[in-house]
Amino acid sequence: MSGFQESWGSRLGLVLAMAGNAVGLGNFLRFPVQAVQNGGGAFIIPYLVCFLLMGIPLLFVEWSMGRFGGVRGNHSTPFIMDSMAPKQFIWRYVGVFGIFTNIAVAAYYCYLESWTLGYMWYSVSGQFSGMSAAEVSGWFGWYTGFDAIHNVVFWILCLVLNTWILSKGLSGGIEKVAKVGMPLLILFGLVLAIRGITLESGENGAVESGTTGLNFLWNPDFSSIWTPKVWLAAAGQIFFTLSLGMGSIHCYASYLRSRDDVALNAMSAGWMNEFVEVVLGGAIIIPITVGYFGVDGMKDLVNQVGGLGLGFRTLPYLFQQWGPVLAALSGLAWFGLLFFAGITSSLAMGTPVMGFLRDEFGMRRNTSAILFGLAVFILGLPTVFFFHYGVFDEYDYWAGTVSLVVFATLEIILFAWVFGMDKGWAEINRGADIRIPGIFRYIIKYITPAFLLFVFIGSLPGIWDMLTHKELLEQIQASPDPEQTTFLEKKMWFVNLSRMVLLAIWLFIAAMVYKAYRQRIQKSSPLNPTN
Ligand code: PHE
Repeated sequence: MSGFQESWGSRLGLVLAMAGNAVGLGNFLRFPVQAVQNGGGAFIIPYLVCFLLMGIPLLFVEWSMGRFGGVRGNHSTPFIMDSMAPKQFIWRYVGVFGIFTNIAVAAYYCYLESWTLGYMWYSVSGQFSGMSAAEVSGWFGWYTGFDAIHNVVFWILCLVLNTWILSKGLSGGIEKVAKVGMPLLILFGLVLAIRGITLESGENGAVESGTTGLNFLWNPDFSSIWTPKVWLAAAGQIFFTLSLGMGSIHCYASYLRSRDDVALNAMSAGWMNEFVEVVLGGAIIIPITVGYFGVDGMKDLVNQVGGLGLGFRTLPYLFQQWGPVLAALSGLAWFGLLFFAGITSSLAMGTPVMGFLRDEFGMRRNTSAILFGLAVFILGLPTVFFFHYGVFDEYDYWAGTVSLVVFATLEIILFAWVFGMDKGWAEINRGADIRIPGIFRYIIKYITPAFLLFVFIGSLPGIWDMLTHKELLEQIQASPDPEQTTFLEKKMWFVNLSRMVLLAIWLFIAAMVYKAYRQRIQKSSPLNPTN
């Protein structure tokens, strides 16, 4: 078990780090797309219900699980879960998800994060000035394509930066970045949001005012209340944005002391994330795009290019409409905001992996940070070089979506039913600086698990279609020209390869957990001379 003791420097630092963990690219690129694709005002209602019935309860659960394990010297989910149910070996292996997801998500997330660095540079250097809409959009294809060496440079820079900050530890690295990055991010977000909302039709070629986009998002529309697809999307977004079901919240919380508050801290970080998501995240991409393309035009664009496309292909062009100086400043603010959102999240993906290596294999902080950086580099290579073959999306689907729901469903069963709700409720309330309404006890025990099972079962058909390549096979069948067919077949090959890689990572981590467990037994055995 661990010989090291590390903890957060201050409460403010902890809350900002946790908020930084949650506030990420998901808030600015993923949320607007989910909202648009699921009907704008029709999405917001299921989204808020999911936040109340799944998001908040799971925040309480993950924070208190983390603190419980951390007090006992465990900083990663396999052994945090093990300490809650030491007699049932299965939970150690459920905990494998909490390391797996972080490595696999980091493998594509850091690549995406590096684009924001690149685009900051290109916005300031005036790369996009004078380009047509099609040229700016096409430039993204070039940037992420095979022959652009720049993106590899920015990617490696980004990995080195992450590794370096991680090697500085919690209070010396992560907290410092959060304390600078979060306020800046909010400042940049406010500036862009105000710009988005105050956009007037007729101004620099805008066809609608910014408020048209806001109305689209905020006019409650009850039509989709009974559509399962919208609920699944809302639940998925709540998971991703709050970093739930990943193991990263557990890990951050495992550096708390036994009587430190979790209730108020969890609420502060969680609500801060929601502010950044629905207020700022909802007031930039949507109003600006609607301003120039109208509601229908924006919907078409979202379906064609998604959030990544809007953020990188469309906005840099629209900023150009405001003149060269404002364009450079807006580009810097937008990609700077995305960069801080990204890095405070990718650091959160590193800590569980490092916690595991340090606890179980006695590694030093620097060594574990470098190993994490290397793992992300190696596993990220396919997402960089075969981006256009769908490797990136495949990682995102299995590690960034399915795995979260599976892990969250299992962890709440562990917490409320195996560990037991009496003990669980006492854990949540120990040292609490707020009184949590008693109703949450029942929500955590019954409603959230039922909700999660419903979401999980509801997503099974989709998972099955994905597993059997339904869409891809249909595309291959319908493909008119042989060149495209070859491309699609190649794509299928790469998709299968990505799955093998992901499976191999999972199994490898499970084997390490097995080894760690054997070592623990040996150390505590009476035959061990050190005992
Ligand atoms: N919550 C982050 C976002 O919204 C993503 C994330 C996932 C962060 C997992 C940490 C761990 O982008």
